[in-house]
Amino acid sequence: MGIIDIIALRKYYPVKRKAFAKQEWLKAVDGVTFSIKDGAVFALVGESGSGKSTVARLVLRLIQPTSGQILFRGGDIQMFRGASLREFRKSVQIIFQDPFASLNPRMTVYDTISEPLKIHKMCEKTELKDKVVNLLNSVGLQAEVLHHYPHEFSGGQRQRICIARALAVSPKLLVADEPLSALDVSIQAQILNILQDLQSQSHISFLFISHDLRVVQYFSDEVAVMYLGKIVEHAQTEELFSNPLHPYTDELLMSAPKIKPGGKKREIVKGDVPSPINIPPGCPFHPRCPKRFDPCDTFIPELKEITGRFVSCHLFS
Ligand SMILES: Nc1ncnc2c1ncn2[C@@H]1O[C@H](COP(=O)(O)OP(=O)(O)O)[C@@H](O)[C@H]1O
Ligand code: SF4
Ligand SMILES: [Mg+2]
Repeated sequence: MGIIDIIALRKYYPVKRKAFAKQEWLKAVDGVTFSIKDGAVFALVGESGSGKSTVARLVLRLIQPTSGQILFRGGDIQMFRGASLREFRKSVQIIFQDPFASLNPRMTVYDTISEPLKIHKMCEKTELKDKVVNLLNSVGLQAEVLHHYPHEFSGGQRQRICIARALAVSPKLLVADEPLSALDVSIQAQILNILQDLQSQSHISFLFISHDLRVVQYFSDEVAVMYLGKIVEHAQTEELFSNPLHPYTDELLMSAPKIKPGGKKREIVKGDVPSPINIPPGCPFHPRCPKRFDPCDTFIPELKEITGRFVSCHLFS
């Protein structure tokens, strides 16, 4: 049992293109299974539209699954009520991509970070200020910023404030949905270092979401690669980077600069991601796959275990 166990999770959205037309579904998440071990960093990677943020929203219980289960410490999160729901809300926190949109422009740093402490009655009133300052120090900010407003900070500083706010309630799991994507490249490493330090010091588990494989290489313990709502490859991070099996993982690695020495550098994976309303038959990746062969456009490859890792590709069946 992990801190989070996700079992056959699906989230379908109804789409109606015309009156009287057959009901169609957008399969944002389509049968995803994985566990996050206590204290581990689990990375979810894939191009835009692959369903990563939908998984995050499901894990946070912000939306209901179409089917499947999410267990937190063995308990079905849909069943949580009252005290168990409050405990869950406290234990699982999020850091979003856009640190500006996720801060209230009319609240000072002190108000922002002390709010969750008050809501969850985490400390005495007299201790609030010290606790807020400690949290700020843990993300590399000093007490003099306490009475400043979000617009007075840079993107990187705002993300630090968001991290301090998420940490205020001593969460067990941090869901980080592309926390570096809105920041300058020079700032990305600083924020990643803060998250890495936190993780090694406080044993927090992470669901770390990124479209960029470079970011997860040195931070995550396990990686799952998503494509059109499904996991196509899942392995320990070292194994995935040293020996990618799925052609999509290979393409993602080649499109990420400086990952593979001597590897071809491309900006993006060739071709567009097909619409999740109209998923190609057979292997969903076949229209873009350089290695496709006879069965690929007809038969759907299952996610299969191969020597302790998982891959869905006819090359490995
Ligand atoms: N509330 C919604 N209603 C309809 N479609 C949605 C909704 N949320 C997400 N989608 C669709 O689900 C797919 C996956 O989206 P998302 O989880 O945001 O992907 P990612 O985070 O990997 O970019 C996309 O095609 C997106 O347009
Ligand atoms: S099943 Fe075929 S099309 Fe799909 S990734 Fe494997 S080789 Fe490529
Ligand atoms: Mg997203």
